[in-house]
Amino acid sequence: MNKASPVHADMHQFEVKDTQLQIGGYSLDQLASMLDKQVFYAYDQTVVKAQIDIFHRHIPASIKLHYAIKANPYMPLINAMRPWVEGFDVASQKEMLMAIQSGMPNRDISFAGPAKQLPEIRAAIVAGITLHIESELEFERAVKLGQELDIKPIIAFRVNPAFELKASGMKMGGGPKQFGIDEERLFEILPTLDYSQFEFRGFHIFWGSQNLKQEAIIDAHNNTFALAQKLIDITPTPTVTVNLGGGMGIPYFPGEKRLDLAPIGENLKQLLKQYPQLAKLELIFELGRFLVAEAGIYASRITDIKVSRGHTYLMTNGGLHHHLSNSGNFGQVIRKNYPVAIGNKMGLAPEEAKVSAVGPLCTPLDTLADKMQLPKAELGDWLVIFQSGAYGPTASPQDFLGHPHVSEILV
Ligand SMILES: Cc1ncc(COP(=O)(O)O)c(C=O)c1O
Repeated sequence: MNKASPVHADMHQFEVKDTQLQIGGYSLDQLASMLDKQVFYAYDQTVVKAQIDIFHRHIPASIKLHYAIKANPYMPLINAMRPWVEGFDVASQKEMLMAIQSGMPNRDISFAGPAKQLPEIRAAIVAGITLHIESELEFERAVKLGQELDIKPIIAFRVNPAFELKASGMKMGGGPKQFGIDEERLFEILPTLDYSQFEFRGFHIFWGSQNLKQEAIIDAHNNTFALAQKLIDITPTPTVTVNLGGGMGIPYFPGEKRLDLAPIGENLKQLLKQYPQLAKLELIFELGRFLVAEAGIYASRITDIKVSRGHTYLMTNGGLHHHLSNSGNFGQVIRKNYPVAIGNKMGLAPEEAKVSAVGPLCTPLDTLADKMQLPKAELGDWLVIFQSGAYGPTASPQDFLGHPHVSEILV
């Protein structure tokens, strides 16, 4: 018996009217007219809100939700999310300013990222946001700058845990890493620090990203709580906050399914009972793509169609320079197709013959869709890439070959 080939998760988050994909109630033609642009990203804020609601439905209410701005730093989106989350995680001075300008209280902004430069540390201290310290030298620099500025830096230590995520996805803890301070080293230094020189906030235990395995996430949470308890036990001053990381993924590729947060939430409830001391602290999850990726599409126009030795290429005005991650060059080992559709021919039957969609760059890497079954495409149709609300324009080499930058809209 033939095994059915794996399919993409159903992209049910957007409405379809007749055959037209709707983003926030607008067809792609309408969005193009509003923007006066023929290639763009569109983000639907109701889908972001729905993801946040899924989080709250399952995760114990006492655990706060922070948004990691790096996933999508489009300012209108940050402003929209500001009342829906309890804090922002930033990775640079620019992101810090965006977070502050959204009106998020500075106390609820944290700054993580290796190789922080002195001006960034200074800016964070002056703004009174929490620095997630990534190395011992960074800690010394923060304390010294605090003395010079006569402001106590607010400090949480990012921990490079000894445990490693038991699954694929991006591992950001365990073994040697550029992120955080190794947990065994923290056990040595935490009892020896002069806590009068800074405001001690707590710990940041970030172990990975884009994980779709409930059991692996549950395992990481069990390890994170156990480690956090050990850390607070040996720290001679009270811990205020433990940032438990994030890591929850979304389905991009054939065969991947949406994460079921129910068992993860149940396990967290047990952990809060098992560790009553931790349950009293401010606990935080820090999520990027889980909140925003499903809410975004990337739309480009098919401007040429050619057949090369029997294979059809849909040529578009968009490409890798706008959407590096879809090209498979942003952390993937093997390129796989994102979910793709002809946005003005939704629900029409796909043709039997597989086609590819490509952009204008002179490299075979500039592939938007590789040998996919799509409805018959014509010039002027919209090629749509779903799951594009995270790591889009700002994670792409927009100046490569000098083509125009992409536009964005939040609806
Ligand atoms: C410290 C930190 N927080 C949050 C994130 C966001 O991860 P994701 O978008 O997968 O949720 C990352 C991703 O690299 C990170 O390094």
